[in-house]
Amino acid sequence: MRRVRSTDWARRLVRETSLSVDDLIWPLFVMAGSGEQPVGSLPGVNRLGEKEIVAAAKRAVELGIPAIALFPATDPKLKTDDAKEAINPDNLVCRVTRAIKDEVGDSLGIILDVALDPYSSHGQDGLVRDGQVINDETVEVLCQQSVVQAAAGCDIIAPSDMMDGRIGAIRSALDAAGHHGVQIMSYAAKYASAFYGPFRDAVGSAANLGAADKKTYQQSPSQSDEAIAEVAMDIAEGADSVMVKPGMPYLDIVARVKETFGVPTFAYQVSGEYAMLRGAADAGWLDGDAVMLESLLAFKRAGADGVLTYFAADAAEWLRRG
Ligand code: PBG
Repeated sequence: MRRVRSTDWARRLVRETSLSVDDLIWPLFVMAGSGEQPVGSLPGVNRLGEKEIVAAAKRAVELGIPAIALFPATDPKLKTDDAKEAINPDNLVCRVTRAIKDEVGDSLGIILDVALDPYSSHGQDGLVRDGQVINDETVEVLCQQSVVQAAAGCDIIAPSDMMDGRIGAIRSALDAAGHHGVQIMSYAAKYASAFYGPFRDAVGSAANLGAADKKTYQQSPSQSDEAIAEVAMDIAEGADSVMVKPGMPYLDIVARVKETFGVPTFAYQVSGEYAMLRGAADAGWLDGDAVMLESLLAFKRAGADGVLTYFAADAAEWLRRG
């Protein structure tokens, strides 16, 4: 076995998997107003103001990153029980989506999450009644949120809410509103994970959620067959691509989904995974560039067509340097 590993050229010759800038999706946090605000639990990641987010989008284009995913840190005063700011056509993500599209047009894809947690005073992804997250009424609001976001110019709607039946309902709502070309990237196999902690700090939903959890709609980490059932339903309902989330602890799911369905499959290297690697690198315990590239390559080897990662810009710069 060692003959094919003996030199750099020999290793390159037999390489099965490679990482390219085309594999990267860059998640970005946006806040109202201007400036940049560091997120304590995500070293190196800032919430960006409305001008700064446009600059970041232009940087993505310049680096060759195909798409960004925008997440709003909503003003706490705008959060309500019914999360109605989610369907305001002039809310923060809609405003910045228009501003970015004015600058970059079709040279960059914009992905917007569909879920109520950035807007709800209880921090849940759906509407809550008698302490329960209610499915069908939530789906109606998610449909309105999708249409509003598509009208603002977003290219891919990414439902991250894990309600039942939402993909089919959102597809019908988008089509009825004339948004036939807007794609749906379903967070199909999304687990109830403790690795989302820093994200909830970044969008400010951690305080709203408090000690509550999302286990009645996100999947249990013990489940694998259930992920296959979720993906099958979402594809049947009209998803254009599917996502597995978190990433590194769930590469078995990525591999199973890709092998079973052969559809465009994405994985999310979530906030806690980034924080773990970046924190250890900053402490000098790991080689930051090396673990970043090794982890992203591992997603590709497992079968992912692309990775949502807070390392996207760093990885793109590294790839450009060669
Ligand atoms: C919102 C949403 C979450 C993430 C993406 N969309 C958090 C959650 O479900 O609580 C997590 C992303 C990350 O941790 O990087 N529904």
